[in-house]
Amino acid sequence: MSDISQASLRERIRTFGIVPVITIPAEAIAVPLVEALVGGGLGCAEITLRTEAGLAAIRRVHEAVPNVLVGAGTVLTADQARRAISAGAQFVVTPGFMPRVVEVCLAENVPIFPGVMTPTEIGMALDAGLTDLKFFPAETAGGLAALRALAGPFPMVRFIPTGGIGPANLAAYLREPTVLAVGGSWMVRAEMIAASDWAAVRSAAEQAAVAVREARGGSAVARP
Ligand code: 3PG
Repeated sequence: MSDISQASLRERIRTFGIVPVITIPAEAIAVPLVEALVGGGLGCAEITLRTEAGLAAIRRVHEAVPNVLVGAGTVLTADQARRAISAGAQFVVTPGFMPRVVEVCLAENVPIFPGVMTPTEIGMALDAGLTDLKFFPAETAGGLAALRALAGPFPMVRFIPTGGIGPANLAAYLREPTVLAVGGSWMVRAEMIAASDWAAVRSAAEQAAVAVREARGGSAVARP
């Protein structure tokens, strides 16, 4: 069971404006990596279960960096969801709409941001009572134009566009009123991790945090 309410977690994610997506090769680097993000001003991390080290990394970060909001990404099965939650994941992200994963998260009262790309998938999420959704893969699925088209019939939805976003197109997404936050791996690229280049991670996080402030122009409080 999560120790943080859905509303307060959502508010923290909205305030950070960025959800860094981390695919980690070894659990031992989880803490310095996340501390670099926090040092750059981003107190939130989605650690994917794409590697063996993912679950242990979530546990380590949860224990060693209690102030950071740590979530599990690429959660594909109900069993993975349960294991991620017991490891300390405070939120769960899925690439598509996985009904069994959603069921576990709702039962455990852990916020879930399911991936959607089509109106049908958004409809499934709404049926489950979810309105904060990951738009994935954002750029491949049509980028901002697609996001705006989807927002028309679903004005209650707030999106976390993810996939193909980086420094060049970040601001445009952040300025979109239906965007809750932007997700992506550009702050924690594989080569930075391979070189243990935490200074580069910190600097990319700092630049992203500045982009959030600039894009929102001080109006963050008034945003939905
Ligand atoms: C994800 O799993 O959310 C994506 O792999 C992140 O997309 P990006 O690597 O294009 O930022």
